Amino acid sequence: MTENHPDLARILITPEAIAARVKEMAEQISSDFRHVERLYMIGILKGAFIFLADLTREMHFPHVVDFMALSSYGRTTESGAVRILMDLREPIDGQHVIIVEDIVDSGHTLSYLQRVLAGRNPASLHTCALVRKLRPGLNVQVDYLGFDIPDVWVVGYGLDYADLYRTLPCVAELKKEVYSK
Ligand code: PRP
Repeated sequence: MTENHPDLARILITPEAIAARVKEMAEQISSDFRHVERLYMIGILKGAFIFLADLTREMHFPHVVDFMALSSYGRTTESGAVRILMDLREPIDGQHVIIVEDIVDSGHTLSYLQRVLAGRNPASLHTCALVRKLRPGLNVQVDYLGFDIPDVWVVGYGLDYADLYRTLPCVAELKKEVYSK
Protein backbone atom coordinates (compact mmCIF):
# COMPACT_ATOMS: atom_id res chain seq x y z
CA MET A 1 0.00 0.00 0.00
CA THR A 2 1.23 3.47 -0.91
CA GLU A 3 0.12 4.87 2.45
CA ASN A 4 2.54 2.55 4.19
CA HIS A 5 5.46 2.92 1.80
CA PRO A 6 8.51 3.24 4.03
CA ASP A 7 10.18 5.92 1.88
CA LEU A 8 7.28 8.36 1.87
CA ALA A 9 6.96 11.15 4.43
CA ARG A 10 3.34 12.02 3.52
CA ILE A 11 0.86 11.87 0.70
CA LEU A 12 0.27 15.29 -0.84
CA ILE A 13 -2.30 14.40 -3.50
CA THR A 14 -4.37 11.21 -3.42
CA PRO A 15 -5.14 9.16 -6.53
CA GLU A 16 -8.79 10.20 -6.25
CA ALA A 17 -7.91 13.90 -6.13
CA ILE A 18 -5.57 13.50 -9.11
CA ALA A 19 -8.22 11.70 -11.15
CA ALA A 20 -10.86 14.34 -10.37
CA ARG A 21 -8.54 17.24 -11.23
CA VAL A 22 -7.25 15.58 -14.41
CA LYS A 23 -10.85 15.17 -15.58
CA GLU A 24 -11.58 18.84 -14.84
CA MET A 25 -8.47 19.91 -16.73
CA ALA A 26 -9.41 17.76 -19.72
CA GLU A 27 -12.89 19.30 -19.72
CA GLN A 28 -11.43 22.80 -19.59
CA ILE A 29 -9.04 22.06 -22.45
CA SER A 30 -11.83 20.42 -24.46
CA SER A 31 -14.00 23.48 -24.02
CA ASP A 32 -11.22 25.96 -24.83
CA PHE A 33 -10.18 24.12 -28.00
CA ARG A 34 -13.56 22.92 -29.23
CA HIS A 35 -13.16 25.11 -32.35
CA VAL A 36 -9.85 23.61 -33.51
CA GLU A 37 -9.58 20.77 -35.97
CA ARG A 38 -7.13 18.91 -33.78
CA LEU A 39 -4.91 19.60 -30.81
CA TYR A 40 -1.24 18.65 -30.58
CA MET A 41 -0.36 17.36 -27.09
CA ILE A 42 3.36 17.22 -26.35
CA GLY A 43 4.41 15.16 -23.32
CA ILE A 44 7.84 15.81 -21.81
CA LEU A 45 9.58 12.57 -20.93
CA LYS A 46 9.96 10.87 -18.79
CA GLY A 47 7.89 12.49 -16.08
CA ALA A 48 4.77 13.38 -18.08
CA PHE A 49 3.97 9.92 -19.41
CA ILE A 50 1.31 9.00 -16.87
CA PHE A 51 -0.29 12.43 -16.65
CA LEU A 52 -0.42 12.75 -20.45
CA ALA A 53 -1.98 9.31 -20.80
CA ASP A 54 -4.70 10.04 -18.24
CA LEU A 55 -5.35 13.58 -19.45
CA THR A 56 -5.70 12.70 -23.12
CA ARG A 57 -7.97 9.75 -22.38
CA GLU A 58 -10.40 12.24 -20.84
CA MET A 59 -10.29 14.46 -23.95
CA HIS A 60 -13.05 13.40 -26.28
CA PHE A 61 -12.15 15.36 -29.40
CA PRO A 62 -9.42 14.99 -32.06
CA HIS A 63 -5.90 15.29 -30.72
CA VAL A 64 -2.41 14.04 -31.50
CA VAL A 65 0.16 12.88 -28.94
CA ASP A 66 3.89 13.31 -29.33
CA PHE A 67 6.86 13.41 -26.97
CA MET A 68 10.09 15.24 -26.31
CA ALA A 69 12.88 14.34 -23.89
CA LEU A 70 15.16 16.96 -22.35
CA SER A 71 18.30 16.90 -20.30
CA SER A 72 17.88 17.63 -16.60
CA TYR A 73 20.66 20.20 -16.21
CA GLY A 74 18.09 22.88 -15.48
CA ARG A 75 16.93 21.06 -12.41
CA THR A 76 20.19 19.95 -10.93
CA THR A 77 22.40 22.98 -11.48
CA GLU A 78 19.91 25.85 -11.38
CA SER A 79 21.78 27.25 -14.37
CA GLY A 80 18.75 26.93 -16.58
CA ALA A 81 20.73 25.12 -19.28
CA VAL A 82 18.43 22.64 -21.00
CA ARG A 83 19.14 20.40 -23.98
CA ILE A 84 16.88 18.39 -26.28
CA LEU A 85 17.64 14.65 -26.12
CA MET A 86 14.69 13.55 -28.28
CA ASP A 87 12.70 15.84 -30.50
CA LEU A 88 9.18 15.72 -31.96
CA ARG A 89 8.53 13.46 -34.92
CA GLU A 90 6.60 16.06 -36.90
CA PRO A 91 6.81 19.81 -37.45
CA ILE A 92 4.25 21.82 -35.45
CA ASP A 93 3.87 24.88 -37.66
CA GLY A 94 0.21 25.82 -37.89
CA GLN A 95 -0.75 23.40 -35.07
CA HIS A 96 -2.51 24.23 -31.81
CA VAL A 97 -0.02 22.92 -29.25
CA ILE A 98 -0.11 22.18 -25.53
CA ILE A 99 3.11 21.31 -23.70
CA VAL A 100 2.35 18.77 -20.96
CA GLU A 101 4.67 18.54 -17.95
CA ASP A 102 4.42 16.57 -14.72
CA ILE A 103 6.05 19.30 -12.64
CA VAL A 104 7.21 22.90 -12.81
CA ASP A 105 10.05 23.22 -10.33
CA SER A 106 12.58 25.96 -11.22
CA GLY A 107 10.58 26.64 -14.38
CA HIS A 108 13.68 26.36 -16.59
CA THR A 109 12.41 23.42 -18.63
CA LEU A 110 9.06 24.95 -19.42
CA SER A 111 10.56 28.38 -20.22
CA TYR A 112 13.03 26.75 -22.57
CA LEU A 113 10.32 24.72 -24.28
CA GLN A 114 8.11 27.75 -24.71
CA ARG A 115 10.95 29.62 -26.42
CA VAL A 116 11.96 26.71 -28.65
CA LEU A 117 8.47 25.66 -29.69
CA ALA A 118 7.23 29.23 -30.21
CA GLY A 119 10.05 29.54 -32.76
CA ARG A 120 8.48 26.70 -34.78
CA ASN A 121 5.42 28.81 -35.64
CA PRO A 122 2.54 26.90 -34.04
CA ALA A 123 -0.95 28.40 -34.47
CA SER A 124 -1.10 28.59 -30.66
CA LEU A 125 1.08 27.42 -27.77
CA HIS A 126 -0.12 26.67 -24.26
CA THR A 127 1.31 24.98 -21.20
CA CYS A 128 -0.10 22.39 -18.83
CA ALA A 129 1.40 20.87 -15.69
CA LEU A 130 0.07 18.55 -13.03
CA VAL A 131 1.94 20.25 -10.19
CA ARG A 132 3.89 23.45 -9.64
CA LYS A 133 6.19 23.97 -6.70
CA LEU A 134 5.55 27.12 -4.73
CA ARG A 135 8.96 28.77 -5.01
CA PRO A 136 9.82 32.44 -4.67
CA GLY A 137 10.58 34.10 -8.00
CA LEU A 138 9.03 31.38 -10.16
CA ASN A 139 7.99 33.18 -13.31
CA VAL A 140 6.65 30.90 -15.99
CA GLN A 141 3.17 30.83 -17.47
CA VAL A 142 1.20 27.64 -16.76
CA ASP A 143 -2.12 27.85 -18.59
CA TYR A 144 -3.56 24.61 -17.19
CA LEU A 145 -2.37 23.72 -13.71
CA GLY A 146 -3.42 20.79 -11.55
CA PHE A 147 -2.07 21.71 -8.14
CA ASP A 148 0.34 24.02 -6.36
CA ILE A 149 2.50 22.05 -3.94
CA PRO A 150 5.09 22.87 -1.28
CA ASP A 151 8.78 23.04 -2.20
CA VAL A 152 9.67 19.50 -1.10
CA TRP A 153 10.96 16.45 -3.02
CA VAL A 154 7.93 14.79 -4.55
CA VAL A 155 7.53 11.42 -6.23
CA GLY A 156 4.76 9.41 -7.84
CA TYR A 157 2.39 9.79 -10.80
CA GLY A 158 5.40 10.13 -13.12
CA LEU A 159 7.68 11.96 -10.71
CA ASP A 160 10.86 10.19 -9.69
CA TYR A 161 13.84 10.08 -7.45
CA ALA A 162 16.78 8.33 -9.17
CA ASP A 163 14.24 7.02 -11.70
CA LEU A 164 12.26 5.20 -9.02
CA TYR A 165 8.75 5.74 -7.57
CA ARG A 166 7.25 6.98 -10.89
CA THR A 167 4.37 4.52 -10.88
CA LEU A 168 3.05 5.28 -7.42
CA PRO A 169 -0.59 6.32 -7.90
CA CYS A 170 -0.37 9.39 -5.64
CA VAL A 171 1.96 12.41 -5.41
CA ALA A 172 3.90 12.12 -2.18
CA GLU A 173 6.74 13.77 -0.32
CA LEU A 174 9.85 11.61 -0.17
CA LYS A 175 11.54 11.19 3.19
CA LYS A 176 14.62 13.37 3.44
CA GLU A 177 16.83 10.46 4.51
CA VAL A 178 16.06 8.73 1.19
CA TYR A 179 17.45 11.49 -1.03
CA SER A 180 20.18 12.74 1.28
CA LYS A 181 21.83 9.33 1.66
C1 PRP B 1 11.69 17.04 -14.39
C2 PRP B 1 10.25 17.25 -14.81
C3 PRP B 1 10.31 18.48 -15.65
C4 PRP B 1 11.47 19.26 -15.05
C5 PRP B 1 10.96 20.36 -14.22
O1 PRP B 1 12.34 16.36 -15.41
O2 PRP B 1 9.74 16.15 -15.51
O3 PRP B 1 10.54 18.18 -17.00
O4 PRP B 1 12.21 18.35 -14.25
O5 PRP B 1 12.00 21.01 -13.56
P1 PRP B 1 12.34 22.54 -13.79
O6 PRP B 1 11.05 23.31 -13.68
O7 PRP B 1 13.28 22.85 -12.65
O8 PRP B 1 12.99 22.71 -15.12
P2 PRP B 1 13.74 15.64 -15.19
O9 PRP B 1 14.77 16.47 -15.86
O10 PRP B 1 13.94 15.29 -13.75
O11 PRP B 1 13.57 14.34 -16.06
P3 PRP B 1 12.44 13.21 -15.98
O12 PRP B 1 11.15 13.85 -16.47
O13 PRP B 1 12.96 12.18 -16.91
O14 PRP B 1 12.33 12.76 -14.56
